[in-house]
Amino acid sequence: MSEPLRIALAGLGTVGAGVIRLIEANAALIARRAGRPLQVTVVSARDRNKDRGIDLSPYAWEDDMVIMGERADVDVVVELVGGSDGPALALARTTIEAGKGLVTANKAMIAHHGLELAQKAEAAAVPLKFEAAVAGGIPVIKGLREGAAANEFSRVYGILNGTCNYILSTMEDTGRDFAAVLAEAQAKGYAEADPAFDIEGTDAAHKLSILAAIAYGAKIDFGSVDASGIAKILAADIAQADSLGYVIRLIGMAEADGDRLFQRVQPHLVPFDHPLAHVDGATNAVVAEGNFSGRLLFQGAGAGDGPTASAVVADLIDIARGEAGAPFSVPVAELVAMAPAETGHRMGRSYIRFVVADRPGVLAEITAAMRDAGVSIESLIQKGRHEEGGDVLVAMVTHEGPESAVAEAVRLLEGSASLTRAPLVMHILSD
Ligand code: NAP
Ligand code: HSE
Repeated sequence: MSEPLRIALAGLGTVGAGVIRLIEANAALIARRAGRPLQVTVVSARDRNKDRGIDLSPYAWEDDMVIMGERADVDVVVELVGGSDGPALALARTTIEAGKGLVTANKAMIAHHGLELAQKAEAAAVPLKFEAAVAGGIPVIKGLREGAAANEFSRVYGILNGTCNYILSTMEDTGRDFAAVLAEAQAKGYAEADPAFDIEGTDAAHKLSILAAIAYGAKIDFGSVDASGIAKILAADIAQADSLGYVIRLIGMAEADGDRLFQRVQPHLVPFDHPLAHVDGATNAVVAEGNFSGRLLFQGAGAGDGPTASAVVADLIDIARGEAGAPFSVPVAELVAMAPAETGHRMGRSYIRFVVADRPGVLAEITAAMRDAGVSIESLIQKGRHEEGGDVLVAMVTHEGPESAVAEAVRLLEGSASLTRAPLVMHILSD
């Protein structure tokens, strides 16, 4: 068997420790499939003395992770530190400049600096791979770049954040409170170091921008993702959605619109009969609609040590075999700059929820705003007292119409003394 692929591992947290466990547990099988062994030679993290539940004695320790790629006993560096900049980015740059390959699970870094790193990697003729950065253990980057590479994609969308999906589906099943379920997701190792990245939709936006770049051969454009998260969703919204035949899921969606690109992350109402309605817990799922493949559904664990390590090690196996390819599926010079799509003309159905004072005239005020903005209401539910103080919840579903009209109706109600919370708009996922 050939020489081992010698690996430097930066970051020994949830994913880093998972990579060590996986490489140790499946060493023989991996060596057979890769054609040579994967050998971790050196590791690094912040605290050398932390108990990580793994034996680090077989590996050298490097205090300054940024120079790991410059070591003579390293062929490829695995970056599992996190953060778009800081030590992770410094490590990525020095590694590629040292002529070594880089594998990372860091979607924040790829979303912000992927183009620069891909350019550098191409110039240095070294691999840059980030399968674990999108949808954890699901080989969706490989799926789009390789298995479905012959297709033009009309739409790529899905559930891209395990923490949010865990929170929404657990709230749905148990009626438990947002904060308690978030703490549980953190304890299970799903959440980012700062969970605001998860619940505000930023993490899903990072992943969506990477997926869109690969699906459309476009320059990554994280700044144009219109992202919102799940923090404003009430248990009552989940109950309302259920009574109307929907579940609530945080959906990231990328769609080509001529030479423009639509990218949005937003909670959606998903009809019970849609495959994404049955994606629960920290599971992720990505739907890619190809012009010849038809609808493809990729589904699996979107977070956690084992699944994410599986994706990281798959990249290492590719590198060991000498299979790298362009990081974004086409060479950097051929990536197109797609301007953000105009969203004013987008059509769809929406769920709009108001929390209002329980007094005469309030419903008339809301329906007048809908009328004035040209929004047609399909159904409207007013639900008892929402909470102490006499507020009530008014939820409506609109007929198909321009999204801009719904936004205008909400704008017309801004500052209304009848509303005791800002309204929440969620679009309804169409087939
Ligand atoms: P984590 O558990 O917080 O681990 C981060 C590791 O990096 C720790 O070992 C930490 O050292 C080390 N580290 C952090 N800041 C450092 C610094 N300034 N200098 C040196 N070392 C530093 O994170 P994780 O969940 O494994 O995530 C790692 C990466 O994978 C992130 O980019 C994340 O977005 C991505 N990812 C995570 C998952 C998941 O399910 N967790 C899934 C997909 C992708 P100490 O241990 O000594 O503190
Ligand atoms: N925090 C991320 C999530 C980890 O919950 O999906 C996987 O990328």
